[in-house]
Amino acid sequence: MKAAMIDRTGGPDVLRIGQIDEPETGPDDIRIRVAAAAVNPVDLKTRSGFLPIGLSFPTVLGWDVAGVISETGSSVTGFAPGDRVVGMIAQPVRGHGTYAESVTAPASLFAPAPTGIPLTDSAALPLAGLTALQLLDKLALPDGSAVLVTGAAGAVGRIVVQLLRSGGHDVDGLARASDAGELPLLGAGRMFTTVAGLPEASYAAVVDTAGIAASIRSVRDGGRFIAIDDNEQPAATRGITPRKSYVAESGEQLAVLTAAVSDKQLDVAVGRRYPLEEAATAHKDFGAGGMRGKVLLIP
Ligand SMILES: NC(=O)c1ccc[n+]([C@@H]2O[C@H](COP(=O)([O-])OP(=O)(O)OC[C@H]3O[C@@H](n4cnc5c(N)ncnc54)[C@H](OP(=O)(O)O)[C@@H]3O)[C@@H](O)[C@H]2O)c1
Repeated sequence: MKAAMIDRTGGPDVLRIGQIDEPETGPDDIRIRVAAAAVNPVDLKTRSGFLPIGLSFPTVLGWDVAGVISETGSSVTGFAPGDRVVGMIAQPVRGHGTYAESVTAPASLFAPAPTGIPLTDSAALPLAGLTALQLLDKLALPDGSAVLVTGAAGAVGRIVVQLLRSGGHDVDGLARASDAGELPLLGAGRMFTTVAGLPEASYAAVVDTAGIAASIRSVRDGGRFIAIDDNEQPAATRGITPRKSYVAESGEQLAVLTAAVSDKQLDVAVGRRYPLEEAATAHKDFGAGGMRGKVLLIP
């Protein structure tokens, strides 16, 4: 099958299109015909060698996928050929990723695709959605908390804002000035564009998706700070112990998110679509920053 892979780490041009054998469908696996894979920052960090991961080359990149089941393993229940699904696979752990015509992985990593949006667009949901859901689970905020989200218009940030709002919390966002039109649509209240402009010691929690450690100054004494970026954490201060959250595979939690999209409680944003053959260009464009909505690769 056709796939976008790397033979070494480096710039976007190390991504090449080639053929790889499809893996066997094990008893617990499903095989899907890929409608779209999404590009995530982790793919760029894996490709560039920024992340200290032992890769065996050639490696097919990609965590997010949406597609149609073509085969189910002998032990799989709950899914059947023809079902439309989305999934997130931890590519460095599983080996080959989702930038391919076909993906084979445990059925437990998949959920029914949301209804009401194109199947391709639903590839934008899994990694960003699971990251948002899981970090909010870890935060375990009291009802009606005031929360600041940095990178509020980014892939994870915009889902965090929406989940917080639907949970009844008050949300402000730190984002680029150019995101001023988008934040109110997500349900954010006040918007800030600089750390210097943030209110001091005001929020029950800061969710830092943009890697802005200094935003901890906005957490009130004894409050919560959680980050997902690779940047260094701020030091513990004023009774605040900074935490990090790392996304984990879960078809079960993904089903909660796909249901929210189907119910129009959660909106996913797609930026640009590229043919799989243009994966290197997609990485180049995404890596330049400033893009809003997920980048999709269409095989
Ligand atoms: N720990 C985990 O499990 C996990 C999971 C998912 C993602 N991540 C990491 O979390 C980070 C965010 O991921 P993502 O997918 O949400 O990325 P994204 O879509 O690029 O979102 C990041 C957002 O933050 C904004 N931003 C960055 N610096 C800013 C600043 N100084 N002021 C205002 N806005 C700023 C970006 O704007 P511009 O584009 O204009 O710079 C962008 O809108 C990445 O580093 C990613 O690798 C970690």
